[in-house]
Amino acid sequence: MIRLGILGSGSGSNMQAILDAITEGRLDAEIVLVLSDNPDAFILERGRRANLPCGLIDCRGLSSRFPAESQEETTRALREAGVELVCLAGFMRLLRAPLLEAFAGRIINIHPSLLPAYPGLHAWTQAVEDKATESGCTVHFVDAGMDSGPIISQATVPVLPGDTPESLHARIQVEEHRIYPEAISRVAAELQ
Ligand code: GRF
Repeated sequence: MIRLGILGSGSGSNMQAILDAITEGRLDAEIVLVLSDNPDAFILERGRRANLPCGLIDCRGLSSRFPAESQEETTRALREAGVELVCLAGFMRLLRAPLLEAFAGRIINIHPSLLPAYPGLHAWTQAVEDKATESGCTVHFVDAGMDSGPIISQATVPVLPGDTPESLHARIQVEEHRIYPEAISRVAAELQ
């Protein structure tokens, strides 16, 4: 049973998928901490509803940077909760030392494209605008770059004629919810 810490800034549907996989016995894990940099993020509401320990990351009013002191506080909170694997689930800030060093090889992310294509924000919008014929999602280890660490698993979806960014993102998310718990299970098996 691996102890997970989840970091998210938005809806938290991937955290929900991880929780569902645990509840249904498909993933031998426990979510021991949910952290968000956004007090209004629905991921915190989902966490509270599931009685998970939740906390806020104070980014000192900065809209996109992740200040060093906030990363130190986050590291401390994850350590105190006994987190063994950090799962980013829609977390919108770039991680740096000391967080990366404290959890070296133990931080993973889900990204809505077939990396290395379309790193960064709005990957699904770029896929539609480029008239790509397929897209998908990637689970990868996190390093200091933008969506650039070693790939753990990927799933492909078609981009259909008439797709909007929203319809493509919805199709990608179905696959995200399937592969993220599976990837966590694989990484956990290798770590333990
Ligand atoms: C997902 O599309 C994920 O790939 C990206 O941000 C989105 C988060 O969605 N990193 P949710 O908060 O898990 O619903």
